[in-house]
Amino acid sequence: MVSYKEVQDSNALINDATAPRVAVFVGGTSGIGKFTVRALVATGASVRIYLVGRKISEEPMNAFIQELYVINPKAEVIWTEGEVSLLAETKRVCEVIKSKESRVDFLFLTAGYAPFGTRRETAEGLEITQSLEYYSRMLFILHLLPLLEEAEAPKVVSVLAGGMERATVNLDDLDLKKPGNFGGVKAQMQYTIMNTMTLEKLANENPNVTFIHSWPGWVNTGNIRRSADPNSITAWCFWLILEPLIFLFALSDEESGQRHLFQSTSAAFGGRGVPWKGKLGVNSLEKQADGLFLVNYKCDCTPNAKVMPILREKAQGKIWDHSQEVLRPYL
Ligand SMILES: NC(=O)c1ccc[n+]([C@@H]2O[C@H](COP(=O)([O-])OP(=O)(O)OC[C@H]3O[C@@H](n4cnc5c(N)ncnc54)[C@H](OP(=O)(O)O)[C@@H]3O)[C@@H](O)[C@H]2O)c1
Repeated sequence: MVSYKEVQDSNALINDATAPRVAVFVGGTSGIGKFTVRALVATGASVRIYLVGRKISEEPMNAFIQELYVINPKAEVIWTEGEVSLLAETKRVCEVIKSKESRVDFLFLTAGYAPFGTRRETAEGLEITQSLEYYSRMLFILHLLPLLEEAEAPKVVSVLAGGMERATVNLDDLDLKKPGNFGGVKAQMQYTIMNTMTLEKLANENPNVTFIHSWPGWVNTGNIRRSADPNSITAWCFWLILEPLIFLFALSDEESGQRHLFQSTSAAFGGRGVPWKGKLGVNSLEKQADGLFLVNYKCDCTPNAKVMPILREKAQGKIWDHSQEVLRPYL
């Protein structure tokens, strides 16, 4: 475990020279994304942040952005409106960023919520949480990779459940469209595996970029409440059982933000970034080298060695081919 003191000490070293100069947050309007934006801005470094969010979040974000300017007048926060559950919108937002920037140092992906409600599809025919937690995230990466390649220590962080993969993936119905295939736990596992497999492939093909799939543990953001119909039994179970547990055992908002800032900036993961004197993290290929890191809420890395070779062999190619088919029209 990386102690909270070590995390804070490392983050205290973030300055104009080591901070990501251009950062893109997709999901920074709430929860872990928002805590990490605040932690980054609080370093006092010169940063330009693209805060991507949907129209309904624009007004509440105005006050947050003003708060950020008080914390750090050197920060520049660019509100970038986009309905990122739609891939066409994701592409449009990427084009906006690409038209303004020649490099991106850091891409932080947290949009989405636990798929515990009934299956709902976007206008593009994708299950909404799969689009948010997988397809849209991968599309952001694919569009912004050329700009990430221009940075000195580029990082991509996708927050979902890195390291929690099991060898149970539905390869015949990757989008869980057939009756009976969609369900909260099954869907969350499916999207987790799809994240890890595609991130690992991208990491292998782009060795100049560090990739992290983070499992944040419990953080009391209300995320669990987003999916269930408020009057359903599931919602009552969450409210009566799960939420009190999350309240008791969750990481604080501040610690979650600091830990994700650490993951996003420290050389502990792959050797590039804020200098790190401790043990180097082990990537998904069990090496102390760059690549994809499966990182938990204590900032420990796991190669998930019992499961990953099986997934690599039987699932990675199929997930990649299918994802290419889905994403191709938006590339
Ligand atoms: N919190 C936890 O304990 C926990 C544990 C494990 C995994 N995770 C996963 O980690 C990720 C981040 O979690 P979090 O707790 O930070 O989540 P959160 O506070 O609920 O924030 C989720 C983000 O997703 C956006 N979003 C939600 N529905 C959307 C929609 N239909 N269209 C566009 N954007 C939408 C939200 O935008 P708005 O602000 O506009 O609503 C917000 O920026 C999620 O994928 C979550 O499932 C969380």
